[in-house]
Amino acid sequence: MNELPSPSGKGGTNSLDLSHVRTIDGVDVQGKRVLVRVDFNVPIENGVVADTTRLTRVLPTIAMLARHGAKVVVLSHLGRPKGVRTPDTSLRPVAAKMQELMTGIAVRFAAASSGDEAKRVIEALKPGEVAVLENLRYHKGEEKNDRDFAKALAALGDIYVNDAFSSSHRAHASLEAIADLLPSYAGLLMMAEITALGEALEQPERPVMAIAGGAKVSTKIEVLTNLVARMDVLVVGGGMANTFLLAKGIKIGTSFVERNFVGTAKDIMARAKQSGCEIVWPLDLVVANELKAGVDWRVCAVNEVPSDAMVLDFGPKSVTELKRRLGSVKTVLWNGPLGAIETPPFGEATFALAHEVARLTREGKLVSVAGGGDTVRALNEAHVADDFSYVSTAGGAFLEWLGGAHLPGVVALARSGAHASNVFRLSPTLVISAKAGIQ
Ligand code: 3PG
Ligand code: MG
Repeated sequence: MNELPSPSGKGGTNSLDLSHVRTIDGVDVQGKRVLVRVDFNVPIENGVVADTTRLTRVLPTIAMLARHGAKVVVLSHLGRPKGVRTPDTSLRPVAAKMQELMTGIAVRFAAASSGDEAKRVIEALKPGEVAVLENLRYHKGEEKNDRDFAKALAALGDIYVNDAFSSSHRAHASLEAIADLLPSYAGLLMMAEITALGEALEQPERPVMAIAGGAKVSTKIEVLTNLVARMDVLVVGGGMANTFLLAKGIKIGTSFVERNFVGTAKDIMARAKQSGCEIVWPLDLVVANELKAGVDWRVCAVNEVPSDAMVLDFGPKSVTELKRRLGSVKTVLWNGPLGAIETPPFGEATFALAHEVARLTREGKLVSVAGGGDTVRALNEAHVADDFSYVSTAGGAFLEWLGGAHLPGVVALARSGAHASNVFRLSPTLVISAKAGIQ
């Protein structure tokens, strides 16, 4: 038996007092060196940034600070170089891309994130200019949350801004330790993320439906446990649905399954029942003998999976039923695809559902919040990401948030605000629209 985490109850999870988080909105930054921690952990292909989403999403914060006369010093990690300089993890191409994206604002690059090289570049900055420092993870102290490394970083600035929600599940020096050393604020993207995710998870307009997919129950126990305690309706998709179907006594042929987690799936179903969360099961499934593009596939009823076939997607009746259900909910929180989306045609159910969520959102009938790498890729592939109410930049951090964890980077901001004399309260005008940070 796998121990289930205990959710802190309705209203309890993520019950961190975010009212202590200070926003950077309205702070006098003229002539000040503002350290902005961002998440530029982006894919680099042939020395070029292959996806600029995380860059464009922090532009509003950086541009706003520059416009108000700050000397903006951008901090990030890239990849997992583990304290060693490796050519493929340099932030130099990211700085070049930032310069392309920021018209009229000079973007410099420092080949180190602390010491003389960093100081030299920052000292040469004029108000309104930006410097991107080299990968923080070239220093072992970063991942160790080392206070001395945090001090070395803090010495480079007058003010600290965390705009890296998607990295804030890491208790690292540039995310946690540093927040105790400088006046600390949340950036616009951070505010957008914690507002959109907080509202969808904690104070959604009800009924609220969560769609949770992904391969493994084992990696999502906290998420599923927290969701059944909070949602009105839960759709379980992806490979992990197989483990639940097996737990319900349904034969799943040769499908991927985690037999050791059948007990966990039963516990999650029992908890769902207790807290009045209805889990919606597929009516039909798309099956094939193997997971391969171009393979023969067919649709079968949920209780008629052939013994030599594997489940690879929800079937058309299931999609129709999910669309019908969408018509009666007000909020959707989505993490994880329903099928094996990377292999056509097993993304069809996910894409169809994505289109319906997008349509209802466009018509003002639904608030839709999505996050996680695979999910965002699916929405982009279906060309509907822009129609969702909010799409998170976070992968791991999104999952931890859904699981009810307090993210160390966010906790550090709240702690720093709680002890500050001149507390900037959460500004409702800034956070009212979760899209505020996206332009
Ligand atoms: C991410 O890309 O999800 C974050 O930046 C965290 O990166 P990490 O998993 O390497 O810590
Ligand atoms: Mg990651």
